[in-house]
This record gives sequence, C-alpha cells and structure tokens, in this order.
Amino acid sequence: HPAKGCTMEFSAFEILTALALLFLAIYYYFTSTYDFWSSRHVEHPKPELFFGNFKKIMLGKSSLGDYLYEQYQYYKNEPMFGLYARRTPVLVVNDPEYIKDVLIKDFSSFSDRGMTIHEKVEPLNQHLFSLEPARWRPLRIKLSPTFTSGKLKEMFYLLAECGNSFETLIDNMVKKNPVIECRELTAKFTTEVIGICVFGLKAEAMTDGDSEFRKIGRKVFENSWMKFIKFRIRDAMPWLFNLLGPFFYDHEINGFFINLMKQTMEYRKKNNVRRNDFVDLLMDIKDDPSKVGDIEMTDALITAQAFVFFIAGFETSSTTISNALYELALNPSVQDKLREEIIEELANDNGSLKYETIKGMKYLHKVFCETLRKYPPVTVMMRKTMQPYTFSGTKVTIPKGMRVWIPAYAIQRDPAIYPDPDTFDPERFSEENIKQRHPSFYLPFGDGPRNCIGARFANYQSKIGIIQVLRNYKVEVCDKTCIPYVNDPRAFLLAPVGGIHLKFTKL
Ligand code: HEM
Repeated sequence: HPAKGCTMEFSAFEILTALALLFLAIYYYFTSTYDFWSSRHVEHPKPELFFGNFKKIMLGKSSLGDYLYEQYQYYKNEPMFGLYARRTPVLVVNDPEYIKDVLIKDFSSFSDRGMTIHEKVEPLNQHLFSLEPARWRPLRIKLSPTFTSGKLKEMFYLLAECGNSFETLIDNMVKKNPVIECRELTAKFTTEVIGICVFGLKAEAMTDGDSEFRKIGRKVFENSWMKFIKFRIRDAMPWLFNLLGPFFYDHEINGFFINLMKQTMEYRKKNNVRRNDFVDLLMDIKDDPSKVGDIEMTDALITAQAFVFFIAGFETSSTTISNALYELALNPSVQDKLREEIIEELANDNGSLKYETIKGMKYLHKVFCETLRKYPPVTVMMRKTMQPYTFSGTKVTIPKGMRVWIPAYAIQRDPAIYPDPDTFDPERFSEENIKQRHPSFYLPFGDGPRNCIGARFANYQSKIGIIQVLRNYKVEVCDKTCIPYVNDPRAFLLAPVGGIHLKFTKL
C-alpha cells in the first residue's frame, strides 16, 4: 500500500476499547458529583445521567417555579433538600429560620446571586440583579436612593399623570372591543411609568399601536425557541455560548439601550438638566467613578443598570396588575368590596390620585399582597455561597460557590402555611393573620440586603393600575379567559399560557 508507512491502522478491538474508554470518561464526568448529597445525608431525588434532576426544565416542559413546587411536595417536611442541575449540586432551603439565615443573618456568606455574566455576548447583563458582590455592593449603595419614600412622594405626580393616560387608553380600547388582553394593556401602562420615572422620557407606550420602548420590552420577554436554545447552551455549555457569541449578540436590544442612555445623558449635560433621579445618579457615578470604589465604570456597566431598572420594573408590575384583575374577575365579591373602598377613598380627594390616599387603602393592600402570594413573578430566590457554610444545629456543610435556592412559589402555595392555597383570600393579610406566620414564608420581593430595590415603587405603580381599572369598569371572565391559570413552562418570570382576556363593562 503506497501510504502504509504514514497511516495508523486500528483494529476493531482497539476502536471499541477507545470508544468504551471515552464513554466511561463521559459517564464519570457526568456522575462523579452524584454522591454529593448522599454523603451529606441531605434528601434528594435520584439524578439521571446528563440531566441530573433537570430533565423537565432542560426540555422546556416545566418552569423552575413549577418544578420546585413539584419537588417541594416530597421534601416539604425536610429543612432542606438537594438537587442536581445537570451535574451541579444545588441546595433548596425550606425551613424559615434557615431562609432567614441565608437572606438576612448570614448574608455576607450569601451575597452573590450565582448568575454567570458573559460580558461580550450580553454586555447589558452586568446589572444589579446579576453582578458579583465586588461590583454589586458599591452600585447598590449608590443606586438605593432612587426609590426612597421621599423620592417616591416627589415623583408621585408623574405616576398619577400616567394613571390618567391609562384611563384614557382603557376607554379607547374598550370602545373598540370590550374583551381586552390585560397583560399587554398593563404592560403599556408600566412601560410608560418606568420610561418617565426612571429615564425621564416619554415612552409613548400608551397608544393602541406599538412604541419603540414597548417593542423592546416585548422582545426581552418573548418566548421563542431560538431564545430557549440560546439559554440552554448558555447554562450547559458556556464555552460554546462564548464561541458563538457574535451569533447570539442582540444588536436591537443592546443598540436601543446604549443609544438611549448616551443621548439622555448628553442632553442633560448640554442643557444643564438635573432631576435628582436615577439617570442623575448614574451620571454622577460616571463623572466620578471613585464614588463606587475602584470598579471600572464602563459605558456598558452604566447602561446595564438602566436596562435592569427597565426590565425588572415594568413586566413584574404589569403581570401583578393583570393577575390581580384575573382574580378579581373570578371573585366578584372581592372586586365589589375593593371598588367600594377605592371609590370612597378617592371621593375624599375629589377623585384625584394622591400618595397618601393610596397608602390608606387597606383592602387594596391586602388584594395586592394576596396576588403576589399566589402569583410571585420571581418564583425562586437565588444565592451562592461566598465561603464554606454550615447550617446552624446541623452537620450540613456546603462549599464555597454552591447555589442555594429558596422555593418562594412553592412555600406560598403550601396548604400547611396558607390553608386552601388556591382560594384567593385577601384576609390572609390581615394584621392578625400576618402575625401568625413566619415572615420568611412570604417573599414576593425577596428579603435582606439583596431584596428588590424597587419594591416600594412597584407597590404604588401596581396599585394605581388596579385603581384606574376598577373605579370605571367591572371586569369579568368571558369565553376567551383561560381557566385554570396554567404557568408557561418556558417563561422566565411567572406568566400564564394564553394571556389574560377579560371583559370590561363601564360602570
Ligand atoms: C411587583 C413588582 C416586582 C416584584 C414582584 C419584584 C420582585 C423581585 C425579587 C423577588 C427580586 C429578588 C430579591 C431577592 O433575591 O431577595 C427582585 C430584585 C430586583 N428588582 Fe424587583 N420586583 C418588582 C418590581 C421592581 C421594580 C419596579 C424595579 C425597579 C424599577 C425592580 C428592580 C429590581 C432590581 C434592580 C433587583 C436586583 C436587586 C439586587 O440584586 O440588588 N423590581 N425583584
């Protein structure tokens, strides 16, 4: 054979042996961690090769919230249980005292959320929600003044103005068709509110058509197969994700926010505009990075903070308003009682929306809390250990870098904590009833130093949305309403399949 001198020939036996060794190496790689929980005597479901316990999640058959709900049913009497996210052990904490330790008492051991940031492919992901503690801490301190109660009172007139435009939008839409898809309707309202209160810009979202802001907002949360595959690759094979970076880079979203922030800051500088708002805080940091210690304040890092205030700010609240409307349509007596309170309180102020009036609406607050109990948009609180940690009174020690999750959605639907959990009952949030429960059993905004920075703002934004609907309209279920509420298995935040269609009737 002419080429015999320089080729290697393998016998079938050698090829088979090599394949067997390769298979063994892969098998070892995927299963070598699978004794992590049994060696620590922590209960856990049996992992499967490659998937660990995450088959349903990886195949898009279940959302993380639903999956933890399912597992919680087996392990709810345990203080904690283990899972394997593919081959990575994850600890799920059920016990309220341990939850308190993780979120509050021993926060210094859990100050990371455990997100991986791919700066080149997703530059806007280096935001407060995802940042590691070194960059998170100084930024959080600097950005916390955005929504103090004083600031909120100052900007309340902007919220009220958006509330008035929201009323007009609803009127126009109902004239065309009394059956309204509430998730889209309320997203227009909250997009406008965030545009004006956070960016100082009119988002022009409250029209029948599509504004640029709304288009981008929808794109961020849209649920495509492409996105599903992108996130699965990002989670399971970060090296491949980075390699395919240019393919996954979203020019539309990144371009929109980078230009928006650049233009807004330039405009304010040129025209000497100062509003003491979020954008001004970001400009201060940009002009004087020493304010945030020695972290490098790149344009992307600045813009990413604006990006997270937008994405975390509008969808969570709009979802909450539409979920509340859904439950109010299903529970007409709760709706009537709430409307009575709203109309009575508003009448005291000649119908205008005032900060103090909304604060005084006690039943509205109960409805808001119960909505977030049944439908917490963020279903799981996530943390990562900064150092090895031993849970007090146990022999369970977990290493540095370990993911620790709190299954808020499952806890908030546990009948032992919230009897008859499917029933929408605002009275669960009467003062006496709240006192009966451990505070860690209610976590729609998380807890501790890394809780939701916008909770107070979200409270007023969502309540204004609910008020503006109920004061003028009766909402009812109709043929198009999806009953029961089925969670979208591929949605990042809790969201129903098929939207929320309700019939609006003018009072
Ligand atoms: C009903 C509406 C909202 C809900 C249910 C909600 C819920 C949450 C939850 C559960 C967390 C994680 C907390 C934890 O891990 O302990 C969070 C974090 C966050 N939220 Fe919200 N949120 C809402 C509205 C908002 C608004 C209006 C903004 C800003 C405009 C906002 C900005 C953020 C940010 C920046 C973080 C990350 C905080 C950090 O890591 O320091 N959220 N939110």
